[in-house]
Amino acid sequence: MTIAMKRSAALSRISPSATIAITQKARDLVAAGRTDIISLSIGEPDFDTPEHVADAARSAIASGKTKYPPVAGIPALKEAISAKFERDSGLRYASSETVVCSGAKQVISNALLATLNPGDEVLIPAPYWVSYPQLTQLCGAVPVFIETRIEDGFLLQPDALERAITPRTRWLMLNSPSNPSGAVLGADALASLAAVLLRHPHVWILSDDIYEHLVYGETQFATIAQVEPALRDRVLTVNGVSKAYAMTGWRIGYAGGPAPLVKAIELIQSQLTGGACSISQWAAVAALNGPQTELVAARESFRRRRDLVVGMLNDTPGLTCPTPHGAFYAYPSCASFIGRTAPSGKVIRTDEDFVAELLEQTGVAVVHGSAFGAGPNFRVSYAASVENLTEACRRIQQFCSLMQ
Ligand SMILES: Cc1ncc(COP(=O)(O)O)c(C=O)c1O
Repeated sequence: MTIAMKRSAALSRISPSATIAITQKARDLVAAGRTDIISLSIGEPDFDTPEHVADAARSAIASGKTKYPPVAGIPALKEAISAKFERDSGLRYASSETVVCSGAKQVISNALLATLNPGDEVLIPAPYWVSYPQLTQLCGAVPVFIETRIEDGFLLQPDALERAITPRTRWLMLNSPSNPSGAVLGADALASLAAVLLRHPHVWILSDDIYEHLVYGETQFATIAQVEPALRDRVLTVNGVSKAYAMTGWRIGYAGGPAPLVKAIELIQSQLTGGACSISQWAAVAALNGPQTELVAARESFRRRRDLVVGMLNDTPGLTCPTPHGAFYAYPSCASFIGRTAPSGKVIRTDEDFVAELLEQTGVAVVHGSAFGAGPNFRVSYAASVENLTEACRRIQQFCSLMQ
């Protein structure tokens, strides 16, 4: 007799990530013998970690830096983080105001666990990174979505923010450049949002800047604690090495913020996991302090790929793709295909149907926009080779042209 596992209330409030589910589906098709799969569903750079960073990890192992590290991070990395914040954004964070975690995802989880109570509200502009509502719900709090519009370039508008704030609002999640839309909130846009936030001192701001270095010129990167210093004591500025330095597997994220919040994050982390991997921390020191040339080269390469993908998607009758100014995602609308019939005879009722059919018929894996809270759209990650991107977009064009 099997005994059913009892689920906790917390577990029943969360669900698996759609991004991971689609990536897995593409892998399953490959395992089942499909040789034509091109996966544009995952959010990670296709470059290798820079050699000097890998060298720093090898020397950390060779010199025995393999013991439990301090919970909030090794002093060398905390210094590198303070220097990075000052160098890139003019933000001064003392050691007591920085913390290192196992990925930006853990920074965000720790911060929410440390501050949310059941019934609290977290404002999440849509489309959003899938983990924000899930982590909010894990804490028993309520995600409150704020719609953004394709006509506004998916940028959060101050009046929409103002309308969404209630006495129960605890956090506003800001993510610029955005996953999935690639939208970038420049200094002026952030200043207009800051003006609203200054009127609501109970609202804290989590600025997820993980795609900071992937901005393509049209709008400069800015972060809210820099744009409005009066908000500094209620802003958590989150960042990490995953996307900038092609270090997704090393699991290092970090944050700067007010000391009491940083202390609370450290306390949660001390019980959940302890300090982040010591070897990865030494690698992150080399990434932040070392030459930034590979970062510039990666950005240029992403820009070329963005132009290729956005161009080919916009050349597809029926698709509309706004130009993303940052990150490595395009977020085209497939609204004109809803209600139409795919070559297989299946009627496309949602963007989820569109991407399922696209994968089945053409072998191209992308993620439906409704998973990010805004559709009918789909997210294409252009962190893939030019060859694969060209072929995938060609197949998308053909798929769309056959739709009745
Ligand atoms: C918006 C956003 N924030 C945070 C993360 C997590 O980054 P990390 O690898 O540092 O946990 C991701 C990863 O996809 C992301 O897209």
